[in-house]
Amino acid sequence: MSRVVLGVGGGIAAYKACELVRRFTEAGDDVTVVPTAAALRFVGAPTWEALSGHPVTSEVWDDVAEVRHVRLGKSADLVVVAPATADLLARAAAGRADDLLTATLLTARCPVLFVPAMHTEMWLHPATGANVRTLRDRGAVVMEPASGRLTGADSGPGRLPEPEDIHAVATGLRDDAATAAIVSRDLEGLRVVVSAGGTREVLDPVRYLSNASSGRMGIGIARAAALRGAAVTLVRATIGAPVPSGIEVVDVVSTADLADAMTALAPDADIVVMAAAPADFTPATRSDAKIKKDGTGGMTLALVQTPDVLAGLAAASPRARVIVGFAAETAEGDELLRLGTEKLRRKGCDLLVLNDVTAGRVFGSRDNSVVIIDRQGIVARAAGPKDTVAHHILSAARAEIEGEH
Ligand code: CTP
Repeated sequence: MSRVVLGVGGGIAAYKACELVRRFTEAGDDVTVVPTAAALRFVGAPTWEALSGHPVTSEVWDDVAEVRHVRLGKSADLVVVAPATADLLARAAAGRADDLLTATLLTARCPVLFVPAMHTEMWLHPATGANVRTLRDRGAVVMEPASGRLTGADSGPGRLPEPEDIHAVATGLRDDAATAAIVSRDLEGLRVVVSAGGTREVLDPVRYLSNASSGRMGIGIARAAALRGAAVTLVRATIGAPVPSGIEVVDVVSTADLADAMTALAPDADIVVMAAAPADFTPATRSDAKIKKDGTGGMTLALVQTPDVLAGLAAASPRARVIVGFAAETAEGDELLRLGTEKLRRKGCDLLVLNDVTAGRVFGSRDNSVVIIDRQGIVARAAGPKDTVAHHILSAARAEIEGEH
């Protein structure tokens, strides 16, 4: 269990922070909510108290003997500010301490995550940009807002990212190596292309062939790369998780679509990660009408093999600087390593992330345990939530670019 302080700024997105409290408490964390006075005009103290199980105030004048404004920050393992309004970012950047939340931010020595939400004009204003840079330079993590519909009729960057996305970012901040990589923005200036999810091979207007991939590993990698400052494109097949904020998305359906999108994007990328689970076979013919039962009690499907996207990207010229593949195998230990090494050579990629998928492990799960290999052998092992594993995979890719392996 960790002690999480959730600071809530005065924006309409405060209602989404209620869902965030629930996600933390369900994961076993002890959450103290510190709203600003403006936040309490949107969502009242009883709601935060009921969700967190702790008393709530925005003032430094309550429980003075307890010195809450110092104790809260000092004892926190993680501080998350969501929504972080333009005003709150400005106050934090200026180092103000005129309410409980800003005082807590000044006394906290743990990772601090700001999740901005505001109107597009405010987000794009140079004053807000300067405040975000100041906070990042001081070691805080500032997420990019999501794009889309805002309050009223306007739309653009400024929406609060989905609570699931925010919670996943917070998960990565529990790992020291991942936090250091995020804070240093070590992928700034790099272009990262990630594929995620299972492709669908259409049989007829109502049926398709697919697989059990949830896309969470690829989503985690895209999110981690964006947090570390990379320009990220996610090539999205079917996935069961929200798209992280601050990344470009290209939608695909079949393995052939995936091959086209990746072939177009990969040559300009520094790092390509093929986390998608492409269907290996596609129906030899696609019926425009629904296929009917023919009364014989069965049917035989003719399938043809799809292109190997990863091998194609690795053999292309020009090609990305580092190409990362995954290997889902039903093996463990030395046998997993032997199959992986053989697959890395066959596909021609630079790094291969190996995992054992025996008995449905990995698919749809939030955790993963992997071995990362290059042509010389094992370069890293990582286990834990997929968002933490994602950071270790990106660090291995970055080390490959720097020639460190
Ligand atoms: N892959 C791909 N194109 C395909 C199939 C797989 O690019 N048509 C990629 C996956 O995205 C993954 C890697 O290849 O990064 C390995 O996937 P895996 O399913 O383990 O390998 P297969 O090629 O299916 O090999 P095998 O059938 O021998 O296990």
